[in-house]
Amino acid sequence: MTNELYAVVGNPISHSKSPRIHSLFASQTGEPVEYTAIQAPMDDFTGTIRHFFERGGKGLNVTVPFKEQAWTLADHRTPRAEKAGAANTLYLDADDALVADNTDGVGLVRDLTRNHGVALKGLRILVLGAGGAVRGVLGPILAEAPASLTIANRTVAKAEALVRLFAGEAGDTALSACGFEQAAGAFDLVINGTSASLQGDLPPVPASILAGNTVVYDMMYSLQTTTFNQWAQDNGATRVFDGLGMLVEQAVESFYVWRGVRPETAPVIDELRND
Ligand code: ATR
Repeated sequence: MTNELYAVVGNPISHSKSPRIHSLFASQTGEPVEYTAIQAPMDDFTGTIRHFFERGGKGLNVTVPFKEQAWTLADHRTPRAEKAGAANTLYLDADDALVADNTDGVGLVRDLTRNHGVALKGLRILVLGAGGAVRGVLGPILAEAPASLTIANRTVAKAEALVRLFAGEAGDTALSACGFEQAAGAFDLVINGTSASLQGDLPPVPASILAGNTVVYDMMYSLQTTTFNQWAQDNGATRVFDGLGMLVEQAVESFYVWRGVRPETAPVIDELRND
């Protein structure tokens, strides 16, 4: 069978793990998928994706810094993409219209609930950051009905804007915004969605947000313990996870959107950890 073509588009893209993840999915499932990485010029994301689909490409993942552009460009958006304000998954529908989806939030929630056994219902959750990455995951987190969801950010107005945007989906969850220093009391789950660690920085939250049983999740991943997770461990947290599982889970969901087949994630996560 001829392979069908998929790719991840970003800039830069050479460090992306997506080609490796999707080729592991393809060999696991026997699906005829060929998956490459494409670096789009900063000023021609549109031309890059048009060219990809014109030459018969079936689906794209989109990463930094093009997720918002992908969302804007699409003819249709899935409801979860609509709310996320950004797209990480593109494909053409039966009428050749460009559809944008977002699998990041589902990826985070699946990693927490299935891979780490952390059910979110009833938890007191603190999310750090209020940028695109956080906006992308709030809908799926709220759908799990936590007791409360506090969004803390350096620029408090951005956290407040997210609270307004998601108020209609909060249900019984107490949704609120604050600055890092104002995050008060111990939380059951703390999710770092800031990009601070890219600069080796820490969001200046008080260590009192952590109790011994607090689950800490950094949406970033790296070979070594992330800056944020190291801080959490130094302050007594014992259940500390990075975003590698989220990366694999969002990839599974994209694969499922395109192929209708859902690969097993555990062997792929293990394989990547050992790379
Ligand atoms: P992303 O797509 O990664 O979410 P973004 O939309 O630029 O990127 O958002 C980055 C997030 O990390 C924001 O919440 C940002 O805080 P501001 O909204 O105040 O800019 C946060 N962030 C970035 N650098 C940070 C730092 N050094 N300390 C604390 N927060 C930081």
